[in-house]
Amino acid sequence: MNYEQRARERADALREAGHATILALESSCDETAAAVVRDGREVVSSVIASQIALHAIYGGVVPEIASRKHVESVDPVVDQALAQAGMRLQDVDAVAVTYGPGLVGALLVGVSAAKALAFAAQKPLIPVNHIEGHVSANYIAHPDLKPPFVCLVASGGHSHIVRVEDYGVYTLLGQTQDDAAGEAFDKAARVLGLPYPGGPLLDKLSHEGNPNALPLPHVVTKGRYDYSFSGLKTALINQVHKLRQTGRDVPAADIAASFQQAVVEELADKAILAVRDTGARKLALAGGVAANSCLRATLSVRCRKAGIDLRMPPPVLCTDNAAMIGSAGYYRLMRGELAGLSLNAEPSLKLV
Ligand code: KG4
Ligand code: ZN
Repeated sequence: MNYEQRARERADALREAGHATILALESSCDETAAAVVRDGREVVSSVIASQIALHAIYGGVVPEIASRKHVESVDPVVDQALAQAGMRLQDVDAVAVTYGPGLVGALLVGVSAAKALAFAAQKPLIPVNHIEGHVSANYIAHPDLKPPFVCLVASGGHSHIVRVEDYGVYTLLGQTQDDAAGEAFDKAARVLGLPYPGGPLLDKLSHEGNPNALPLPHVVTKGRYDYSFSGLKTALINQVHKLRQTGRDVPAADIAASFQQAVVEELADKAILAVRDTGARKLALAGGVAANSCLRATLSVRCRKAGIDLRMPPPVLCTDNAAMIGSAGYYRLMRGELAGLSLNAEPSLKLV
């Protein structure tokens, strides 16, 4: 029996039992992460090696440096995740890995490592979409959460509103026409002189500022649930340049707070509209931007008023991690979605 036949047989047995302990790997951008997750909901261990300090001096992620660092980190991170779980490779039932979207070189490191681990242990290999991973962070944080629900996915590379019809079944309601929300935060932060990734620092700085200090344009989009952040970003850049050119002070905290409020209003308005229109009554947040304190507070208040059940993972599960990949991997395994050893990275992989 060859590897793929054996893996398929083992996967069928796991599906029948409905239980699986999964070793998950994530390396799509600037975090090398590994986790052990039981039955899609319980995190047994989770290790994240961040490369942020390495890229900060360049003002953004340098793909080649990211790939090289993933190569260095992947084995120790996997070893640590297994050690923290008190397990050996043979003890896990399957290996899940992010195969896209993301940086091709970075993804390839995780994919190659996962293939080697799955082959060595003769266990099923599960390919996971990174965005689906973000959505699935909610299954870990909220063990009672089941589809259907609407999910706002806002990260450094993506801003989507999807309706989660069932596990792994998504309807795309809207998406960004230009910059992703996290990208917009990072670019605005850079203009204010904050280091990469500026989103969390802009969030912090905003606490000291007046969110109504800076007039920003109203966002116009084609689709009812689409996003656009480039107009806000350009308005902010122009106003900061004008202040600098005329020798005036740049009130960084006021600018940060105003920009953050504009982005958050836009994210919240469309997400609530989508929930109302689709009659879902349940909204989940996902992706790095879901860690934003203003977005969390704004949506908490609005959803309470509107009678919408709001679910948010804790910030550590919003930003990139492997536990969310282990959760998504479990549901994929239960649907029989396996990969062979020919699995490749797909940098532009779509969710729907
Ligand atoms: O999901 P994620 O870790 O990686 C991607 O898949 O892109 O998201 C990272 C993005 C970055 O743009 C980062 O600045 C943003 O999420 N982010 C935040 C906050 N925490 C992370 N943006 C605003 N406020 C935050 N607190
Ligand atoms: Zn991500």
